[in-house]
Amino acid sequence: MRVAIAGGSSPTLGSSIVSALLATEGRYTPVILSRKSKTPREKESHTQHGEVETRCVDYQSHASLVLALSDVAAVISVLLIPGPDWVTAQVNLLHAAEAAGCQRFAPSEFALTSWAHTMVDLLDVKNTVWNTVRASVDKGKIDAARFPCGMFMNYLGIGCPESKRTDALAGFQEGPFLVHLDSNPPWVEVPVQSDNTMPNITMTDIRDIGKFIVAALDMKEPWGGRELGMAGDTLSFEKLINICQRYIGRPIEVRRVKEDELQARLSALPRDQVIPRMECQLAIVCSRGGSVVPSTLKLSASHPTTVGEYMRFYW
Ligand SMILES: NC(=O)c1ccc[n+]([C@@H]2O[C@H](COP(=O)([O-])OP(=O)(O)OC[C@H]3O[C@@H](n4cnc5c(N)ncnc54)[C@H](OP(=O)(O)O)[C@@H]3O)[C@@H](O)[C@H]2O)c1
Repeated sequence: MRVAIAGGSSPTLGSSIVSALLATEGRYTPVILSRKSKTPREKESHTQHGEVETRCVDYQSHASLVLALSDVAAVISVLLIPGPDWVTAQVNLLHAAEAAGCQRFAPSEFALTSWAHTMVDLLDVKNTVWNTVRASVDKGKIDAARFPCGMFMNYLGIGCPESKRTDALAGFQEGPFLVHLDSNPPWVEVPVQSDNTMPNITMTDIRDIGKFIVAALDMKEPWGGRELGMAGDTLSFEKLINICQRYIGRPIEVRRVKEDELQARLSALPRDQVIPRMECQLAIVCSRGGSVVPSTLKLSASHPTTVGEYMRFYW
């Protein structure tokens, strides 16, 4: 069964999903959809996966997408496109998947639940895409699901010993968020709930996400327009801080912040500060208990990496 990964050239989710599909030894064959034919550097990075076919597509061209999907059973999007093109590219991909006769479609989610996304400007566009996908499911045009995974666990690798860092980050290149183990002193911002308790948070290692995708593809029953959560580990901020402290071997400064302080911080941020605004809105989501995703999908051969295992291994 051929599985197309739109944006599969990415060293994070793309690499994770391609590796997991290849590990099924022929049950699933990954095909990468990319805007470009392979550059020499990309060719090099794909040799670690063996020969994986890359199909060059134009996300604005229905014909180009239908042609690329003609022999594909499932389409998984891991696209990240700044601005409104993120919606149009994925809606075009959906309609091409329907026209090409693909059975399953997953838009680029891999964050929190739809409810949480309504509170984050940059992520609410995922709901816009989903409304269209959901309408197609309801009309019987295609089967589809959305896959929330919580925060990438690989944020915890930022600042780990140099010798383990490449492995720990698994291609992840963003800066720290909430957990600042690379600072001196290390600190964690905890968005406390209205009753002053620390919330729970779900974290998933990027490399487990591909394995969860295989578990979803293995499902015999329809995805049925459901939100199928991938939860690597769900734990309280107290426990997260204790584990981090144990493995980094230094005390962590805990900075508690309440929702009204976060709202004041958000009001002071200009509209064009899109990433700081997203981080602030995500912290508000945490303070409302929205940083947990349900553990719906299970891995058959192994358990997903826990925060304790991740920290013990990389720190
Ligand atoms: N849960 C978390 O903690 C967390 C953190 C970060 C991201 N995410 C989510 O993970 C998903 C993937 O994010 P990412 O950071 O891995 O993505 P990324 O690597 O920045 O981009 C993925 C792919 O999108 C394609 N792309 C980029 N710009 C494009 C454009 N203008 N038009 C068409 N295609 C374009 C690229 O493929 P080609 O160049 O090959 O076409 C690229 O490899 C997103 O849904 C994001 O919200 C979650």
